[in-house]
Amino acid sequence: MRISLVGAGSMAQAITKHAVKAGHQVMISNSRGPETLVQLSKALGCEAGTVDEAVTFGEIVFIAIPLVAYSSIPVAPLVGKVVVDLLNYFPHRDGHISELQDGEVTTSEFLARHLPQSRIVKAFNAITVEDLEKDARPANSPDRRALPIGGNDAEAKKITTRLVDQLGFDVVDGGSLIETWRFERFRPAYCVPLNKDKLERVLSATMRETKVPDGYWLNPRSIPV
Ligand SMILES: NC(=O)c1ccc[n+]([C@@H]2O[C@H](COP(=O)([O-])OP(=O)(O)OC[C@H]3O[C@@H](n4cnc5c(N)ncnc54)[C@H](OP(=O)(O)O)[C@@H]3O)[C@@H](O)[C@H]2O)c1
Repeated sequence: MRISLVGAGSMAQAITKHAVKAGHQVMISNSRGPETLVQLSKALGCEAGTVDEAVTFGEIVFIAIPLVAYSSIPVAPLVGKVVVDLLNYFPHRDGHISELQDGEVTTSEFLARHLPQSRIVKAFNAITVEDLEKDARPANSPDRRALPIGGNDAEAKKITTRLVDQLGFDVVDGGSLIETWRFERFRPAYCVPLNKDKLERVLSATMRETKVPDGYWLNPRSIPV
C-alpha cells in the first residue's frame, strides 16, 4: 500500500519504520521541503516529498504535525481519502482554542471541519512515540498491545485496522469521531499500555467525568474503571 505522512518528526518516523518493515511504500513530508529530508528518508528506506506530493501519493495519509498547523493541510487532494489523525491538543504548543480546551469538540471533529470530505480515522494518538517504537508485536503475541481508533466511515476504519495490525498492534473500535474524547488526553486509555480486552473495558467504562491527571500513563497504578 502507498502510505504518506504529513510530518516527518518523531511519530512520523516511528510509523514509517513499522510501515517500511511491513512492506509498504512510504513518503514523508514537512513544511521545509524534501531537500531537508534526504538523509532521513534514506535512513528510513522511504521517499520524501512536498506536502502536496505526499497527500497525492498516499492511498492512506497520516497527519503527524502539531495541531496548530492543521490549516496548512491541503484539502482538495484529500477528498475521499482515508486520513489517519494522530493529533492531540496541547495548549502550550497549539495556543488557546476554547472549544478544544472546554471539550466541546474532539480534536478529530476539529480536523474534520477542515477536511469535511476526507474519511478521517483517529489512531495512534493514544500511544507515546517511545512505546510506538518498542511495543509493536506480531499478531497473536501474548503481550500484544491494543490501540483505540475512531471514525465515521466503516470502510476507512477497516482499512486502518488492517494497517495498524500490520504495524504491530491490536485495535479496539472506540466509535465515531464524536466519541474519540474517550481516548484523548486526560482519559484512562490515553497512552496506557493495555491489551485488547482491557482497552475495551476501559473505553466502555470511561464517562465524561472520568478524568486522570496529565502524565498518568507514566504510573497508571489504578485505572479508575
Ligand atoms: N510524540 C508523541 O509521543 C506523540 C504521541 C501521539 C500523538 N502525537 C501527536 O502527533 C503529532 C506529531 O507529533 P510528533 O511528536 O511527531 O511531533 P514532532 O516530532 O515535533 O514533528 C512534527 C513534524 O511536523 C512537521 N510540520 C510542522 N508543521 C508542518 C506543516 N505545516 N506542514 C507539514 N509538516 C509540518 C515538522 O517539520 P517542519 O517543522 O520541518 O515542517 C515535523 O517533521 C502531534 O499532533 C502530536 O500531538 C505525538
